[in-house]
Amino acid sequence: MPKLLSNEAIAAFKRDGFYSPVRVMSAADAQRYRRALEAHEALAGKPLQGNWRHKTHLLFTWADELVHHPKIVDAVEDLIGPDILCWTTNFFIKEAANPGFISWHQDSTYWGLEPHDVVTAWVAFTRSDLISGCMKVIPGTHIKDQLPHVDTFHRDNLLSRGQEIAVEVDEARAVPCLLEAGEMSLHHIKLVHGSEPNRSDDRRIGFAIRYIPTHVRQIKIRDSATLVRGSDRNGHFDHEPRPKVDLDKSALAAHADAVGRQVKALYEGTDKTAFRA
Ligand code: NI
Repeated sequence: MPKLLSNEAIAAFKRDGFYSPVRVMSAADAQRYRRALEAHEALAGKPLQGNWRHKTHLLFTWADELVHHPKIVDAVEDLIGPDILCWTTNFFIKEAANPGFISWHQDSTYWGLEPHDVVTAWVAFTRSDLISGCMKVIPGTHIKDQLPHVDTFHRDNLLSRGQEIAVEVDEARAVPCLLEAGEMSLHHIKLVHGSEPNRSDDRRIGFAIRYIPTHVRQIKIRDSATLVRGSDRNGHFDHEPRPKVDLDKSALAAHADAVGRQVKALYEGTDKTAFRA
């Protein structure tokens, strides 16, 4: 018996490489998470930046709570089984009326994870639709081999290297993942996806949580991850500590260590030493 998803949803994910939408919390709860993020930003006097947009669950207790959210993890368990690590989290924040976009890509390109049993839970803190630049996917492309990508490092591209697929993408087949606040989409690491700028008058905030079963390996470096359910009999990753207090000394140290490793893996072959601002 699946824990959260229907058998049809699981079959659709296997066939299409994604499933959307899944309601995982109320709109009011999503608003609470947004307020937690924005309370920090108000104190800092600027939007969440650079390295702190990545592995954010090691810095803030509310983000840690989200990666352990029972409904999110239940849905993920239905797809990858009961022993689950959170490999990373990435905020995709598009400010109102901003040119930031995401080129067509496969997540598998630079991650170094094998095999490709990797699921992203993309949780909407705000509505994500055609006007605000929601994620678009090309169904069924997760079955394809890894496609060649080129690094553009384009200023407005929200991806680490501004990487984009070097061959033609059949955009006519693209499907938008329309989400209300408190809903999530689920997608496979090899699914071709991208998104356009936010043309709305509000921020568009998505929190992408990357989950792997414990048998997955990181082939580039010795990496770390957070065990969120079950047990880890494989030991391919060092386990990360959960933050007890937002941004305290041990949380900052754990985050710096984990992000340092990830930057090494994702920017391998470049001179970058941090995520872009
Ligand atoms: Ni992606």
